[in-house]
Amino acid sequence: MTSTNKPILLDAAGRVAFVTGATGGIGQAVVRMMLDAGANVAATGRRAVPFDDDRVLPLTLEVTDEAAVSAAIQSCIDHFGRIDYLVHMAGMVGKGRLDELSLEDWNTVVSTNLTSSFLLLKHGYPHLTKPGGVTVLCGSSNGYNGGSYLSGAAYSSSKAALVNLTRYCAKEWAPDGLRVHILSPGPVETPMLDRLSNDQHDGLRSILPLGHYATAEECAGAVLFLCSPHAASMTGTNTNISSGMVLDA
Ligand SMILES: NC(=O)c1ccc[n+]([C@@H]2O[C@H](COP(=O)([O-])OP(=O)(O)OC[C@H]3O[C@@H](n4cnc5c(N)ncnc54)[C@H](OP(=O)(O)O)[C@@H]3O)[C@@H](O)[C@H]2O)c1
Repeated sequence: MTSTNKPILLDAAGRVAFVTGATGGIGQAVVRMMLDAGANVAATGRRAVPFDDDRVLPLTLEVTDEAAVSAAIQSCIDHFGRIDYLVHMAGMVGKGRLDELSLEDWNTVVSTNLTSSFLLLKHGYPHLTKPGGVTVLCGSSNGYNGGSYLSGAAYSSSKAALVNLTRYCAKEWAPDGLRVHILSPGPVETPMLDRLSNDQHDGLRSILPLGHYATAEECAGAVLFLCSPHAASMTGTNTNISSGMVLDA
Protein backbone atom coordinates (compact mmCIF):
# COMPACT_ATOMS: atom_id res chain seq x y z
CA MET A 1 0.00 0.00 0.00
CA THR A 2 1.13 3.57 -0.60
CA SER A 3 0.96 6.25 2.09
CA THR A 4 -2.44 7.29 0.66
CA ASN A 5 -3.59 3.68 1.08
CA LYS A 6 -4.11 3.41 -2.69
CA PRO A 7 -3.65 -0.27 -3.50
CA ILE A 8 -0.95 -1.22 -5.98
CA LEU A 9 -1.09 -4.68 -7.51
CA LEU A 10 2.54 -5.69 -6.95
CA ASP A 11 5.74 -3.88 -6.06
CA ALA A 12 8.35 -6.24 -7.52
CA ALA A 13 11.42 -3.99 -7.37
CA GLY A 14 14.45 -6.19 -6.66
CA ARG A 15 12.43 -9.36 -7.33
CA VAL A 16 12.86 -11.91 -10.11
CA ALA A 17 10.17 -13.69 -12.11
CA PHE A 18 10.82 -16.85 -14.12
CA VAL A 19 8.11 -17.02 -16.79
CA THR A 20 7.43 -19.83 -19.27
CA GLY A 21 5.29 -19.36 -22.37
CA ALA A 22 6.71 -15.85 -22.76
CA THR A 23 6.24 -16.09 -26.54
CA GLY A 24 2.51 -16.72 -26.06
CA GLY A 25 -0.40 -14.42 -25.34
CA ILE A 26 -0.74 -14.81 -21.57
CA GLY A 27 2.98 -15.29 -20.86
CA GLN A 28 3.88 -12.13 -22.78
CA ALA A 29 1.33 -10.15 -20.77
CA VAL A 30 2.81 -11.54 -17.54
CA VAL A 31 6.32 -10.49 -18.60
CA ARG A 32 5.14 -6.97 -19.51
CA MET A 33 3.28 -6.54 -16.21
CA MET A 34 6.16 -7.96 -14.17
CA LEU A 35 8.50 -5.45 -15.86
CA ASP A 36 6.04 -2.63 -15.13
CA ALA A 37 5.96 -3.80 -11.49
CA GLY A 38 9.77 -3.45 -11.35
CA ALA A 39 10.82 -7.11 -11.56
CA ASN A 40 13.68 -8.62 -13.50
CA VAL A 41 12.38 -11.43 -15.68
CA ALA A 42 13.78 -14.67 -17.08
CA ALA A 43 11.45 -15.05 -20.08
CA THR A 44 11.34 -18.44 -21.76
CA GLY A 45 9.86 -19.85 -24.95
CA ARG A 46 10.69 -22.30 -27.70
CA ARG A 47 10.66 -19.45 -30.21
CA ALA A 48 12.66 -16.25 -29.67
CA VAL A 49 11.21 -14.21 -26.82
CA PRO A 50 9.96 -10.81 -28.11
CA PHE A 51 11.54 -8.59 -25.44
CA ASP A 52 14.53 -6.31 -25.88
CA ASP A 53 15.06 -5.05 -22.34
CA ASP A 54 18.06 -5.05 -19.99
CA ARG A 55 15.82 -6.49 -17.27
CA VAL A 56 14.83 -9.50 -19.40
CA LEU A 57 16.96 -12.63 -19.64
CA PRO A 58 15.68 -14.40 -22.77
CA LEU A 59 15.95 -18.18 -22.60
CA THR A 60 15.06 -20.93 -25.05
CA LEU A 61 13.24 -23.70 -23.21
CA GLU A 62 11.40 -26.88 -24.14
CA VAL A 63 9.40 -27.40 -20.94
CA THR A 64 9.10 -31.19 -21.29
CA ASP A 65 12.89 -31.66 -21.20
CA GLU A 66 14.07 -32.11 -17.60
CA ALA A 67 17.70 -31.22 -18.29
CA ALA A 68 16.60 -28.09 -20.17
CA VAL A 69 14.27 -27.02 -17.33
CA SER A 70 17.03 -27.48 -14.77
CA ALA A 71 19.53 -25.58 -16.96
CA ALA A 72 17.13 -22.67 -17.60
CA ILE A 73 16.46 -22.26 -13.89
CA GLN A 74 20.19 -22.37 -13.19
CA SER A 75 20.75 -19.71 -15.90
CA CYS A 76 18.24 -17.47 -14.12
CA ILE A 77 20.04 -17.99 -10.80
CA ASP A 78 23.45 -17.37 -12.40
CA HIS A 79 22.17 -14.16 -14.01
CA PHE A 80 19.82 -12.67 -11.41
CA GLY A 81 20.71 -14.63 -8.24
CA ARG A 82 17.16 -15.46 -7.15
CA ILE A 83 13.66 -16.52 -8.18
CA ASP A 84 10.71 -14.95 -6.37
CA TYR A 85 7.89 -15.75 -8.81
CA LEU A 86 7.75 -18.95 -10.85
CA VAL A 87 5.02 -18.44 -13.45
CA HIS A 88 4.38 -21.40 -15.76
CA MET A 89 2.12 -20.31 -18.64
CA ALA A 90 3.45 -22.61 -21.39
CA GLY A 91 0.82 -25.13 -22.46
CA MET A 92 -0.89 -26.71 -25.43
CA VAL A 93 -4.35 -27.86 -26.43
CA GLY A 94 -5.28 -31.15 -28.06
CA LYS A 95 -8.32 -31.83 -30.20
CA GLY A 96 -10.83 -34.43 -31.30
CA ARG A 97 -12.77 -37.30 -29.82
CA LEU A 98 -11.11 -39.63 -27.29
CA ASP A 99 -11.61 -42.73 -29.46
CA GLU A 100 -9.60 -41.02 -32.21
CA LEU A 101 -6.77 -39.81 -29.94
CA SER A 102 -3.40 -41.52 -30.41
CA LEU A 103 -1.25 -42.41 -27.42
CA GLU A 104 1.47 -40.21 -28.86
CA ASP A 105 -0.80 -37.16 -29.00
CA TRP A 106 -2.12 -37.91 -25.48
CA ASN A 107 1.44 -38.11 -24.16
CA THR A 108 2.48 -34.88 -25.89
CA VAL A 109 -0.35 -32.86 -24.34
CA VAL A 110 0.01 -34.44 -20.89
CA SER A 111 3.75 -33.92 -20.81
CA THR A 112 3.50 -30.32 -22.07
CA ASN A 113 0.88 -29.32 -19.51
CA LEU A 114 1.31 -31.64 -16.52
CA THR A 115 4.78 -33.18 -16.54
CA SER A 116 6.35 -29.81 -17.37
CA SER A 117 4.71 -28.37 -14.25
CA PHE A 118 6.20 -31.17 -12.13
CA LEU A 119 9.63 -30.42 -13.64
CA LEU A 120 9.38 -26.68 -13.01
CA LEU A 121 8.16 -27.20 -9.46
CA LYS A 122 10.87 -29.79 -8.75
CA HIS A 123 13.76 -27.75 -10.14
CA GLY A 124 12.37 -24.39 -9.06
CA TYR A 125 11.80 -25.35 -5.42
CA PRO A 126 15.43 -25.28 -4.23
CA HIS A 127 15.86 -21.75 -5.61
CA LEU A 128 12.56 -20.08 -4.73
CA THR A 129 12.97 -17.30 -2.17
CA LYS A 130 11.97 -18.70 1.25
CA PRO A 131 9.84 -17.34 2.73
CA GLY A 132 7.85 -15.35 0.18
CA GLY A 133 8.27 -17.19 -3.12
CA VAL A 134 5.14 -17.73 -5.21
CA THR A 135 4.40 -20.22 -7.98
CA VAL A 136 1.49 -19.81 -10.42
CA LEU A 137 0.55 -22.68 -12.75
CA CYS A 138 -1.98 -22.54 -15.58
CA GLY A 139 -5.09 -24.69 -15.70
CA SER A 140 -8.27 -24.14 -17.69
CA SER A 141 -12.04 -24.10 -17.32
CA ASN A 142 -11.77 -27.48 -19.12
CA GLY A 143 -10.21 -28.75 -15.90
CA TYR A 144 -13.48 -28.00 -14.09
CA ASN A 145 -16.11 -28.97 -16.63
CA GLY A 146 -14.50 -31.81 -18.62
CA GLY A 147 -13.95 -29.76 -21.78
CA SER A 148 -14.93 -31.06 -25.21
CA TYR A 149 -13.52 -32.26 -28.54
CA LEU A 150 -12.44 -28.64 -29.19
CA SER A 151 -9.45 -29.18 -26.86
CA GLY A 152 -9.63 -32.92 -26.28
CA ALA A 153 -9.47 -35.31 -23.35
CA ALA A 154 -5.73 -35.01 -22.70
CA TYR A 155 -6.09 -31.25 -22.28
CA SER A 156 -8.99 -31.33 -19.82
CA SER A 157 -7.44 -34.23 -17.89
CA SER A 158 -4.03 -32.62 -17.60
CA LYS A 159 -5.53 -29.28 -16.56
CA ALA A 160 -7.67 -30.98 -13.88
CA ALA A 161 -4.61 -32.82 -12.56
CA LEU A 162 -2.76 -29.52 -12.23
CA VAL A 163 -5.34 -28.34 -9.70
CA ASN A 164 -4.37 -31.14 -7.35
CA LEU A 165 -0.67 -30.76 -8.07
CA THR A 166 -1.13 -27.13 -6.97
CA ARG A 167 -2.89 -28.19 -3.77
CA TYR A 168 -0.25 -30.84 -3.08
CA CYS A 169 2.59 -28.34 -3.30
CA ALA A 170 0.64 -25.65 -1.45
CA LYS A 171 0.51 -27.98 1.56
CA GLU A 172 4.02 -29.41 1.23
CA TRP A 173 5.66 -26.02 0.75
CA ALA A 174 3.65 -23.91 3.22
CA PRO A 175 6.18 -24.53 6.05
CA ASP A 176 8.80 -22.90 3.78
CA GLY A 177 6.62 -19.80 3.44
CA LEU A 178 6.02 -20.61 -0.23
CA ARG A 179 2.62 -20.10 -1.85
CA VAL A 180 1.35 -22.05 -4.87
CA HIS A 181 -1.63 -21.13 -7.08
CA ILE A 182 -3.29 -22.04 -10.34
CA LEU A 183 -5.28 -19.94 -12.82
CA SER A 184 -8.17 -21.59 -14.63
CA PRO A 185 -9.14 -19.37 -17.56
CA GLY A 186 -12.05 -19.93 -19.91
CA PRO A 187 -11.56 -18.58 -23.43
CA VAL A 188 -8.81 -15.94 -23.57
CA GLU A 189 -8.04 -13.78 -26.60
CA THR A 190 -4.67 -15.27 -27.55
CA PRO A 191 -3.23 -17.19 -30.52
CA MET A 192 -4.38 -20.41 -28.81
CA LEU A 193 -7.92 -19.67 -29.99
CA ASP A 194 -6.88 -19.11 -33.64
CA ARG A 195 -7.67 -22.77 -34.31
CA LEU A 196 -11.42 -22.18 -33.88
CA SER A 197 -13.78 -21.37 -36.76
CA ASN A 198 -16.07 -18.32 -36.69
CA ASP A 199 -19.01 -20.61 -35.89
CA GLN A 200 -17.08 -22.17 -33.00
CA HIS A 201 -16.24 -18.68 -31.67
CA ASP A 202 -19.91 -17.68 -31.88
CA GLY A 203 -20.94 -20.87 -30.08
CA LEU A 204 -18.35 -20.34 -27.36
CA ARG A 205 -19.29 -16.69 -26.78
CA SER A 206 -22.97 -17.65 -26.57
CA ILE A 207 -22.36 -19.81 -23.48
CA LEU A 208 -20.41 -17.11 -21.61
CA PRO A 209 -22.78 -15.26 -19.24
CA LEU A 210 -20.57 -12.17 -19.50
CA GLY A 211 -20.58 -12.54 -23.28
CA HIS A 212 -16.90 -11.87 -23.87
CA TYR A 213 -13.57 -13.64 -23.77
CA ALA A 214 -11.05 -12.73 -21.10
CA THR A 215 -7.90 -10.87 -22.13
CA ALA A 216 -4.32 -11.94 -21.56
CA GLU A 217 -3.89 -8.82 -19.41
CA GLU A 218 -6.71 -9.90 -17.08
CA CYS A 219 -4.94 -13.24 -16.60
CA ALA A 220 -1.63 -11.49 -16.01
CA GLY A 221 -3.28 -9.14 -13.52
CA ALA A 222 -4.52 -12.16 -11.57
CA VAL A 223 -0.98 -13.60 -11.58
CA LEU A 224 0.43 -10.35 -10.16
CA PHE A 225 -2.27 -10.23 -7.49
CA LEU A 226 -1.54 -13.83 -6.45
CA CYS A 227 2.17 -12.97 -6.25
CA SER A 228 1.49 -9.87 -4.17
CA PRO A 229 1.25 -9.31 -0.41
CA HIS A 230 -2.50 -8.78 -0.96
CA ALA A 231 -2.64 -12.58 -1.33
CA ALA A 232 -0.22 -13.33 1.54
CA SER A 233 -2.74 -15.61 3.28
CA MET A 234 -3.83 -17.35 0.09
CA THR A 235 -2.32 -20.59 -1.15
CA GLY A 236 -3.57 -23.59 -3.11
CA THR A 237 -6.19 -21.41 -4.82
CA ASN A 238 -7.70 -22.00 -8.25
CA THR A 239 -8.64 -18.69 -9.88
CA ASN A 240 -11.67 -18.99 -12.14
CA ILE A 241 -11.43 -16.50 -15.08
CA SER A 242 -14.17 -18.00 -17.25
CA SER A 243 -16.52 -15.04 -17.91
CA GLY A 244 -19.12 -16.85 -15.79
CA MET A 245 -19.03 -20.09 -17.82
CA VAL A 246 -18.09 -22.02 -14.67
CA LEU A 247 -19.90 -20.87 -11.54
CA ASP A 248 -19.91 -23.83 -9.18
CA ALA A 249 -16.19 -24.63 -9.11
N1 LIG B 1 -6.14 -18.91 -24.65
C1 LIG B 1 -7.09 -19.60 -24.02
O1 LIG B 1 -8.28 -19.57 -24.40
C2 LIG B 1 -6.75 -20.39 -22.79
C3 LIG B 1 -7.80 -20.87 -22.00
C4 LIG B 1 -7.52 -21.61 -20.85
C5 LIG B 1 -6.20 -21.86 -20.52
N2 LIG B 1 -5.20 -21.40 -21.31
C6 LIG B 1 -3.83 -21.73 -20.91
O2 LIG B 1 -3.07 -20.55 -20.86
C7 LIG B 1 -1.69 -20.88 -21.03
C8 LIG B 1 -1.10 -19.89 -22.02
O3 LIG B 1 -1.74 -20.05 -23.26
P1 LIG B 1 -1.96 -18.84 -24.30
O4 LIG B 1 -3.39 -18.60 -24.38
O5 LIG B 1 -1.03 -17.72 -23.97
O6 LIG B 1 -1.54 -19.60 -25.64
P2 LIG B 1 -0.45 -19.30 -26.76
O7 LIG B 1 -0.47 -17.87 -27.14
O8 LIG B 1 -0.70 -20.33 -27.79
O9 LIG B 1 0.93 -19.61 -26.00
C9 LIG B 1 1.33 -20.90 -25.67
C10 LIG B 1 2.72 -20.83 -25.10
O10 LIG B 1 3.13 -22.12 -24.67
C11 LIG B 1 4.44 -22.37 -25.15
N3 LIG B 1 4.68 -23.79 -25.32
C12 LIG B 1 3.84 -24.72 -25.81
N4 LIG B 1 4.43 -25.92 -25.80
C13 LIG B 1 5.67 -25.74 -25.26
C14 LIG B 1 6.75 -26.60 -24.97
N5 LIG B 1 6.68 -27.92 -25.21
N6 LIG B 1 7.87 -26.07 -24.43
C15 LIG B 1 7.95 -24.75 -24.18
N7 LIG B 1 6.96 -23.88 -24.43
C16 LIG B 1 5.83 -24.38 -24.95
C17 LIG B 1 4.50 -21.63 -26.47
O11 LIG B 1 5.86 -21.43 -26.80
P3 LIG B 1 6.36 -21.28 -28.31
O12 LIG B 1 5.31 -20.44 -29.01
O13 LIG B 1 7.66 -20.56 -28.17
O14 LIG B 1 6.46 -22.64 -28.88
C18 LIG B 1 3.76 -20.35 -26.12
O15 LIG B 1 4.62 -19.44 -25.49
C19 LIG B 1 -1.66 -22.34 -21.48
O16 LIG B 1 -1.31 -23.15 -20.39
C20 LIG B 1 -3.10 -22.61 -21.89
O17 LIG B 1 -3.46 -23.97 -21.77
C21 LIG B 1 -5.45 -20.66 -22.43
